[in-house]
Amino acid sequence: MNTMDGSAAIATDVVKVYGRGDTAVRALDRVTLEFPRGRFTAIMGPSGSGKSTLMHCLAGLDTVDTGRILIGQTELTGLSDARLTRLRRDRVGFVFQSFNLLPTMTAEDNILLGLRLAGRRPDPAWFDTVIDTLGLRQRLRHKPGELSGGQQQRVACARALIGRPDVVFADEPTGSLDSRSGAEVLDFLRTSVRELGQTVVMVTHDPVAASYTDHGVLLADGRIAAQIPRPSADAVLGALTGLGA
Ligand SMILES: Nc1ncnc2c1ncn2[C@@H]1O[C@H](COP(=O)(O)OP(=O)(O)O)[C@@H](O)[C@H]1O
Ligand SMILES: [Mg+2]
Repeated sequence: MNTMDGSAAIATDVVKVYGRGDTAVRALDRVTLEFPRGRFTAIMGPSGSGKSTLMHCLAGLDTVDTGRILIGQTELTGLSDARLTRLRRDRVGFVFQSFNLLPTMTAEDNILLGLRLAGRRPDPAWFDTVIDTLGLRQRLRHKPGELSGGQQQRVACARALIGRPDVVFADEPTGSLDSRSGAEVLDFLRTSVRELGQTVVMVTHDPVAASYTDHGVLLADGRIAAQIPRPSADAVLGALTGLGA
């Protein structure tokens, strides 16, 4: 696959096996996928199909057995732990189902912590854009415990985007939210792609969440079972039902 076209991330022929011998599980079985810059991608599939493993391998949180992962122009295979840690800190953003904010720090300090650890200063104009797009201006001095779930997840989105990463990985970002807060977070992730030019890869089992994205990838047994451009909730539901999910 062409690596000179500005893809945010590419997986080429990736295999990941857990365990050995009789109990070995091929969590990823020759997965090849490209994530163009400025695209919002949903990764879907039945439980155990390899969604989290794929995200962890793409994000440098786990290593592959064979195949290659590129983040931007950087090949992850063979990077030292120290360089992988730096790459994750500087070039990848994460949004988790459980928010993962530090409870004793204000929203603003949570958002800026990663940059500060990296010795980087936030770009003031970008900081304002992210904060205002997320509607967090009045919440910056609050601690996570003083915020609703939806507000906490918006803080987590701001934290993921503040360093202008190559790609944001979101694992079930609406899984702990009511449907209205979930819709707000999905709307923001879509805005961050359409208007702010970011790249987002989201793992979800929710066809409605997938309908916010530009492109759906369906995994089954560690392989790509289907790709659905501009997925509607109905198309996703139909495809998942076809897999017996
Ligand atoms: N750390 C691990 N050790 C052993 N098996 C694992 C591990 N992580 C995942 N698996 C197995 O790999 C397969 C894919 O898991 P996962 O990527 O978590 O799927 P999903 O996120 O789609 O539910 C499953 O069969 C799972 O049991
Ligand atoms: Mg999972």
